[in-house]
Amino acid sequence: MKHLNVGLLGIGTVGGGTYAVLTRNAAEITRRTGVAINVVQVADRNVEHAKTLTGGNAEVTNDAFAVVNNPNVDVVVELIGGYTLSKELVLKAIENGKHVVTANKALLALHGNEIFAAALAKNVIVAFEAAVAGGIPIIKALREGLGANKIEWVAGIINGTTNFILTEMREKGLAFTDVLGEAQRLGYAEADPTFDVEGIDAAHKLTIMSAIAFGMPMKFEQAYTEGITKLQQADIQYAEELGYRIKLLGIAKRTDAGVELRVHPTLIPEKRLVANVNGAMNAVVVKGDAVGPTLYYGAGAGAEPTASAVVADLMDVARLQNASAEQRVPYLAFQPNSVADLPVLNIAEVHSAYYLRLRASDKPGVLAGVTKILADLNISIDAMLQKEPADNETEADIVILTHITQERNMDVGIAAIEALPAIVGKVVKIRMEELGK
Ligand code: HSE
Repeated sequence: MKHLNVGLLGIGTVGGGTYAVLTRNAAEITRRTGVAINVVQVADRNVEHAKTLTGGNAEVTNDAFAVVNNPNVDVVVELIGGYTLSKELVLKAIENGKHVVTANKALLALHGNEIFAAALAKNVIVAFEAAVAGGIPIIKALREGLGANKIEWVAGIINGTTNFILTEMREKGLAFTDVLGEAQRLGYAEADPTFDVEGIDAAHKLTIMSAIAFGMPMKFEQAYTEGITKLQQADIQYAEELGYRIKLLGIAKRTDAGVELRVHPTLIPEKRLVANVNGAMNAVVVKGDAVGPTLYYGAGAGAEPTASAVVADLMDVARLQNASAEQRVPYLAFQPNSVADLPVLNIAEVHSAYYLRLRASDKPGVLAGVTKILADLNISIDAMLQKEPADNETEADIVILTHITQERNMDVGIAAIEALPAIVGKVVKIRMEELGK
């Protein structure tokens, strides 16, 4: 029987899940791979907890470098997160000729280009299925299952925390801050929820998907990122009245001018399956030129769902550890010398349809003024909703859905609308995607 010796960095939620799945399903995993995958060493700050979980079956240390320098370890599983110590450890493991499995999306989005170059030079595997959408095998689908396609776009609900918050806001009519508190109490949201609610976590995952969908380097710094903190209950309700749901989407789209790479709240038609992905679940839609739109759904976080992806990567390492670079699927799905430095478009250059909400004095001619501005900019109106002013108010909400235009053009229109004397305050702008074709 062949063996693969694993060194585990971190045995917290995902590390504990990984250990449990590897142990519980050991016989099934060996039936599939023909290899016995054994955790031989674990590093964790909480040594006592690590010893309890492993029950004396693996060496335990609080020194992560002892694992990456251990000659008996074939593959290092990095589950400690962050991107300073983890980067040092991953690069050291690679330098020592060890394969690496990581769930660390921030590390790969920021330093993936350097890590993959180092791994290529040492002919070791760096596998990262768990870094995007937890248990959903979206990396495998993009890199292998859809390999025949020219991938046109990817759009995903890739942050469970924000999807939980948006679902609660819609179903219970609550404000963002109230639901955030509930999400923190339930353990969905971190004590510092910035990465999740500001869309940064989703942008990390989107960056990785764009790289393997289009064969381009990681360009996290150029991704446009807008979170859900400013989203108002009124917009969720108006969207619903018009047949749409608002989701935090990560969108990567290949256009003739360059790649759109953007995370923001998005109206999507409620009839789309992805619009009905609720709670903390994740889903990714991928459009390939041959296959059309495809949908992948599942748990994007959690101990065993994420472990499912980590262990699948370990099984790939078990099968391919002695293969040459040519026999393996390339890190970014495309041959390293074909990875193309595609330009990422500034948000002003992207094309989208828009939801606009304006507050206007209830006087004759206001709507005519607004529609003239849009018509002069060649922005076509798709639908409109005007609400009566509340009893004690003289201002009304007007909601407009536009057809597709360039964002720069839309912003010129919004500035002109806001300058109209009858318009009160700022115009709310939310992008819309059909996700149909
Ligand atoms: N914080 C992430 C989420 C889970 O809320 O989806 C890990 O990627």
